[in-house]
Amino acid sequence: MSSVDQEYIDYIIDFLNDEKVKEMKQYVQHGNTTTYKHCLKVSYYSYKLAKRFHCDAKDCAIGGLLHDFFLYDWHVKDKEREKEFFLPHGFTHGVVAERNARKYFEIDDKCSDIIITHMFPLTIWKVPKFKESYIVLTVDKYLTIAEFFSGKVKWKKWLSFLDTESFGMVR
Ligand SMILES: [Fe+2]
Ligand SMILES: [Fe+2]
Repeated sequence: MSSVDQEYIDYIIDFLNDEKVKEMKQYVQHGNTTTYKHCLKVSYYSYKLAKRFHCDAKDCAIGGLLHDFFLYDWHVKDKEREKEFFLPHGFTHGVVAERNARKYFEIDDKCSDIIITHMFPLTIWKVPKFKESYIVLTVDKYLTIAEFFSGKVKWKKWLSFLDTESFGMVR
């Protein structure tokens, strides 16, 4: 594992050990990908792109990991949710994810913007303020399409380690 990858793990390890983040393993995002795996991939590739373009890699790693931290099965209709938002999941889950992220963690303004604007331009009224937000929303769209059409983006070998309970990364 390169030192850069170790840096990535250092950024997200406390989140991966959090029970609420692990809860994302219960939910299917698209195809046969869980929300947890989807978020971890978005986080990692956003981190890599941020390093490449000299952007804030830490916020991309954390914002990417929490961008879909809405914590429900979006395939299942929910009357309470409909009552609160009126709009479908695609338009509203960024707001819910950001609310959860603030509830369970301390996140900065950039991370908050990454999460809340990640569906732009669908959510045209929430325009991203930071280049890191554009990195995450671009990676998210690419991976969403790739996952939808048969999971063409492979897990890096070491990433699959992150998905096991036995990796011993508890701090
Ligand atoms: Fe999303
Ligand atoms: Fe996503």
